[in-house]
Amino acid sequence: MTKIAIITYSTYGHVDTLAKEIQKSIQDASKGFNDDVVDLFRLEETLSDDVLQAMHAPEKDASVPVIKVEDLINYDAFVFGIPTRFGSAPAQWLHFWDQTSSLWAQGQLYGKMASFFLSSGTYGGGLESTVRNTLSYLVHHGIIYVPLGYKNAFAELSNTEEVHGGTPWGATTLADTDGSRQPSDLELRIANIQGKTFYETVKRFAGESTEVQKKEKKTKITALQTVEKQAKKKEEKKEESKNFLTACCTLM
Ligand SMILES: Cc1cc2nc3c(=O)[nH]c(=O)nc-3n(C[C@H](O)[C@H](O)[C@H](O)COP(=O)(O)O)c2cc1C
Repeated sequence: MTKIAIITYSTYGHVDTLAKEIQKSIQDASKGFNDDVVDLFRLEETLSDDVLQAMHAPEKDASVPVIKVEDLINYDAFVFGIPTRFGSAPAQWLHFWDQTSSLWAQGQLYGKMASFFLSSGTYGGGLESTVRNTLSYLVHHGIIYVPLGYKNAFAELSNTEEVHGGTPWGATTLADTDGSRQPSDLELRIANIQGKTFYETVKRFAGESTEVQKKEKKTKITALQTVEKQAKKKEEKKEESKNFLTACCTLM
């Protein structure tokens, strides 16, 4: 049984839209593993109602529970979603991790796995620096960072036909400076790929293979067997001509 928690902070909902896509993708990828769980949580809000009102922040989705630090122990892996704040993580992220020192002292999170997805207002607004700054939290807890990478999302990440977020560090979306832009289909596709890729990586570390991985493994084995068969045939032919030459020489 694998338990994954998707934990977000989102003021305007962009990060949460990506979170739902990642949750859906993990649920799709986990078909056949009926005990596996992927739950959504949000980080505790630290801003006052007055400040949130001044920022025109909408109400939070009450169906998504606030994560408590001890909840982390119950999960094998985490997908963290945060918006960029001055090229780094928001205060809500720091507030949460500042409460985890007893988990840290006991090594309770050591060996768990985590991935990131983000939202920023602009291009170059600090998506990559945000992930780099948050990596330190994982390192100190001994949590294994799983990047999105390019393997499964090369076409999407390298698309220069349209304006879009998405990095090998994790799925991202561009909210624009007034928050008016919503995650595009391409950004959602990248989020979807990240969910599936992350889940498969977590399962592989747990010693379990998803149907897709089993198929990939079978294809690799078949290819290897074909190469081996060809090499064997070549060897046999060589042996045959050697034997033929030996026979000829003996006759002469
Ligand atoms: C205090 C503050 C600082 C911000 N700093 C940055 C920044 O450094 N770079 C950037 O691109 N966007 C920045 N933004 C824009 C947010 O990243 C954007 O509102 C967020 O990604 C939207 O995601 P959400 O709807 O999930 O909250 C900032 C927003 C606020 C309120």
